Amino acid sequence: MKADEIRETFLAYFENKGHRRVPSSPVIPQDDPTLLFTNAGMNQFKLALLGKEKRDYSRATSCQKCIRASGKHNDLEEVGRTARHHTFFEMLGNFSFGDYFKKEAIEYAWEFMTEVLRLPTQRLWISVYKDDDQAYAIWNSRIGVPAERIVRLGDVQQGDEENFWSMGDTGPCGPCSEILFDQGEEMSCGPHCGIGKCNCDRYLELWNLVFVQFDRSPDGNLTPLPRPSIDTGMGLERIAAVMQKVQSNFQTDLFRPIIAEMEEIVRRGYSSGPEGMPFRVIADHVRALTFALADGALPSNEGRGYVIRRILRRACRFGRTLGMTEPFLYRLVGPVVDIMARPYPELKEKREYVALVIKTEEERFGETLDQGLELFRKAVQVVQASGQKTIPGREAFRLYDTYGFPLDLTVDMAEEIGLQVDLEGFHEEMKLQKQRAKQASRFREEENQWTILSEGPHSRFIGYDHERATVVIRRMRMATDYIDLVLDQTPFYAEAGGQVGDRGELRGEGIEIEVTDTFRSADAVVHRGKLLKGNIREAKGSLTAQIDSQRRSATARNHTATHLLQAVLRQVLGEHVRQSGSLVAPDRLRFDFTHFSPLSPKELERVEASVNAKIREDIPVSTFETSLEEARRMGALAFFGEKYGERVRLVKIGKESLELCGGTHVKATGQIGQFRLVSESGISAGIRRIEAVTLFSTPRSTG
Ligand code: ALA
Repeated sequence: MKADEIRETFLAYFENKGHRRVPSSPVIPQDDPTLLFTNAGMNQFKLALLGKEKRDYSRATSCQKCIRASGKHNDLEEVGRTARHHTFFEMLGNFSFGDYFKKEAIEYAWEFMTEVLRLPTQRLWISVYKDDDQAYAIWNSRIGVPAERIVRLGDVQQGDEENFWSMGDTGPCGPCSEILFDQGEEMSCGPHCGIGKCNCDRYLELWNLVFVQFDRSPDGNLTPLPRPSIDTGMGLERIAAVMQKVQSNFQTDLFRPIIAEMEEIVRRGYSSGPEGMPFRVIADHVRALTFALADGALPSNEGRGYVIRRILRRACRFGRTLGMTEPFLYRLVGPVVDIMARPYPELKEKREYVALVIKTEEERFGETLDQGLELFRKAVQVVQASGQKTIPGREAFRLYDTYGFPLDLTVDMAEEIGLQVDLEGFHEEMKLQKQRAKQASRFREEENQWTILSEGPHSRFIGYDHERATVVIRRMRMATDYIDLVLDQTPFYAEAGGQVGDRGELRGEGIEIEVTDTFRSADAVVHRGKLLKGNIREAKGSLTAQIDSQRRSATARNHTATHLLQAVLRQVLGEHVRQSGSLVAPDRLRFDFTHFSPLSPKELERVEASVNAKIREDIPVSTFETSLEEARRMGALAFFGEKYGERVRLVKIGKESLELCGGTHVKATGQIGQFRLVSESGISAGIRRIEAVTLFSTPRSTG
């Protein structure tokens, strides 16, 4: 039976039993901050299982895309060593939200296994939680599984969580019962082989039935649920292996075409023994990458993005062991999409995009991988020559910091040759580096001390409505070539959100200061400038602050143009376009954004023409304040590099654009004049840069 057929048979079976067929949710959880990746079919039903959300069905079935490469359920390091572990896999499941419980869950599972799939009953084993007599009795007396094929496992009080399933550190959980398939004596790992005793591939855990009875709180307490529920999960890859009578998931139709393509690329044959590990790792990882990227994840240096990067770099490193020195992973995206596009049509349109992201990352890591491997070899030589078994944390940190080797990659490589890595030493180095960075920045801050000239609130920004104001100096500090001032209130815009700070002047009795820059430092707006006349310490009374209005207007034109540019890029290139940085100056603008290939001349033309069309429409630009939550709800674009408070300011350009932004803008797009692209280039993996100018001719009266 093909995997596609098994998937469909399963869903149809449960549909027949009154279950709603629910599509897989994305592998990137939509609104669960406790998870980096969807790790089980039940994730999207979490609240329904807890009885906190009512749905118009109380039974559901799904085939869920899952990634287990971080957090509580992490199989990353098992991948390739066993025939059954994956970072990405599909989970078939049926769910009851306070509807049926143990008896029906067990009966359905048994019927499906033995009557629909027709698996030989004598090869099916059962495990139950140590004191779950109820489940034991259902299996033994009702279903008729003989006692010698039912195993009791786990002991939560003793810290043994076998047969007690939880999603993460918090959330729905409960005792569970598993159906295992005996793959046969010849798969046995020896005299100690057995369920709950070893980790070999003989007894394959196929289907986990969780009797959801508790909600685990962050302190570890288990609160019983008013209405117990059912959550089950069966790995499609495993059941496919059983149905296709192969001993490894990697020999099923879900993997064979990927491995075949790899054999072509590396010009070597795959074997299911230990030497085939690189093939298995790469085939597994490219599936995880394809699904994660297609669902919107991107490689980065932290959180989810770093998990992606680790997976990718691990695959690259295994590629080297197969002699691949050029990017190759991206060439496997095609086979993955071909196999999976039927159940997951979203992959089709992302095919090229995903391949490009992967290729770009491969190229980037490829630049340092060889040097890193060389450093690793040398470190190993030193360790071995001295008869030690541990690679110093310092070396692992250097590999991480300079050559981009994720720690687990180094650990992996060390383990392969029977060495360890000094993890504590690694983390110590990491801490030291952070301290050094902190000290350096503190030193800069404290170089010059402030002199207080008057007391009271400071730095109130009134520059959205005023270009000139009467102000009082609160504090000052002098350096040889500049002076810094903090005022009670100010019309000067301090550099933020890419928009440069205002320039202008401050004048008072006998005093003249030219302001050359305005920026924020902690909670203050600092006006940096030159003292042209007078002595500040002796200054009496207030000053008049006047910004350079022409410069401000030119900057506003470029700022509004930047918003239009982002809106147009999203229309022309796709919704994956996100700002990743910007510079808005009076004479030019620069916009960095996520996208994976150079823009074609056609695309550039369209972008420029489309921005200009929107300028000619003279669309009104408005600003207003709202809560961060409301802004999110309205679908406003936020720039993730920025921190936002509870109240946020939104800039709206008709129906074209809605962005969180504190900057200054024109009143209507017509005031921008004309928009011209100057350049387009790549600045790092997956980030493009556009530079542009706006041309404004002062309207002349035509009299
Ligand atoms: N949620 C259960 C598991 O993932 C079924 O094993």
